[in-house]
Amino acid sequence: MSNQTGMVQRGLMPITVQNITLTLNERMLIDDLSCIIKSDGMSVIMGPNGAGKSLFMRCLHGLAKPDMGQILYADTPLDPLIRQQQSLVFQTPTILRRTVLANLLFVARQRGIDDPKISMDYLAQLQLDHLAQHPARLLSGGEKQRLALARALIINPAILFLDEATSNLDPASIETIETNLQSVSKQGMKIILVTHDIGQAKRLADDVLFLHHGKLAEHSPAKSFFQKPKSGAAKAYLAGKLVL
Ligand SMILES: Nc1ncnc2c1ncn2[C@@H]1O[C@H](COP(=O)(O)OP(=O)(O)OP(=O)(O)O)[C@@H](O)[C@H]1O
Ligand SMILES: [Mg+2]
Repeated sequence: MSNQTGMVQRGLMPITVQNITLTLNERMLIDDLSCIIKSDGMSVIMGPNGAGKSLFMRCLHGLAKPDMGQILYADTPLDPLIRQQQSLVFQTPTILRRTVLANLLFVARQRGIDDPKISMDYLAQLQLDHLAQHPARLLSGGEKQRLALARALIINPAILFLDEATSNLDPASIETIETNLQSVSKQGMKIILVTHDIGQAKRLADDVLFLHHGKLAEHSPAKSFFQKPKSGAAKAYLAGKLVL
């Protein structure tokens, strides 16, 4: 996939997370979490419901602020310039009341990508080109997710965060999205994704961060995580036994 942003600097990596905690309503939801997320490949965040995965991702993207600790991109705390180079796709994307193409053009134009052909290329890549003039609100759930991913990708972010972006999608939509992720990952985009889909994590992950009760129970290369998880919590989760 190509676009005209070209200016995006990669290299604000690794992400160094140092002892972050986040307390809301007197509950410690992120508990002294430290890790280093390396600059390449796909890092997958796993863990049971309520473990703190979404909150952690929000902290990484600056949507939530830890009350202690710090997050450094290379050596720099998150600032608007670094944040501009990140995209986040939620499980339920916000879609504008306009056509599918106009949804994409809206984001593209904010970054100076004015040529509609480029937006059409991205729609084709996500198998949405036949719906370009369709009202985006009428898309199915899977089509909306693919549009959200096209919007996230068109700015050519240095880091793409995905929070359960493929849950409830059919196998063909999942495959389209995974193929696109693998392709941009090979081109150097860092991908950090949350999933409960163990098959997907096995297909995509280079490393796995396993959260439990707001703590990082384990951070391992994918192969060893799936073959021989170190933490009891990850073992139980992978065996289908862990409920918070
Ligand atoms: N804004 C908030 N205020 C208070 N508590 C919150 C807030 N956001 C999340 N929580 C709580 O923090 C905990 C972790 O939430 P989070 O959304 O990060 O879980 P998760 O690991 O993403 O779970 P899931 O797999 O269900 O998406 C939950 O118990 C949740 O109720
Ligand atoms: Mg979540």
